Amino acid sequence: MLVSGSTALSEPVRAIGRASIDHVEHRVRALCERYARRLPFHGWHHVGFVRDKAVEFAGLNGSDVSVVETAALVHDVNYLVRRNSEAAAGSGLRMAILADAGVPADVADWVDALVDEAEMANRHRHISLEAQALSDADTLFKALPVTPVVLAHKYLAENGVSLRELAEKIVGEQRDVHAEGFYFYSPAAARAYSRWATANLELWSCIKESLDDPTVERLLTAVG
Ligand SMILES: [Fe+2]
Repeated sequence: MLVSGSTALSEPVRAIGRASIDHVEHRVRALCERYARRLPFHGWHHVGFVRDKAVEFAGLNGSDVSVVETAALVHDVNYLVRRNSEAAAGSGLRMAILADAGVPADVADWVDALVDEAEMANRHRHISLEAQALSDADTLFKALPVTPVVLAHKYLAENGVSLRELAEKIVGEQRDVHAEGFYFYSPAAARAYSRWATANLELWSCIKESLDDPTVERLLTAVG
């Protein structure tokens, strides 16, 4: 017979209970669906994908799955607060959602900090394991071969940026992390998805290059 102490020791540590995570999910999903027209790129389809993959990566790297799952659910609420903003712009709404869900204040601070830590523009080689799991999931969404085909134009519409601005952002933010070898932190993600990441980055480099050709620019102006 297992005594409770040995059971507790064999369980992975979870700082956030299932009921709180479900509450956060319900709230974020409702907000995404209510404002779906403002979130053609960062809507529930994105949040749900990042949540599912972040949980998978957290299970692989031994980080706190409950914290990673919660962070994934609230990582992009900044787009509900301000168009084309950084993760930090969503801190107030993020903390309010976490408080309503009964997440303890110190754990909510942890979640909010790791969302910033995992952001593509800020991340570095030595971020925490929880931030690594979130980053890998969010980065994978960007690197999916289908993203430039079916979602890039939605990003332009959502954030009010030009194709040139998006190409410069992607190449500017992703080139160095790719070259320095921490595009993905998880060895399993790197093995499975690095080819996609390389192709995606090359595609966006080529898009950026093509926009310097005045004939291409006239073509794009003509198609609107
Ligand atoms: Fe995201």
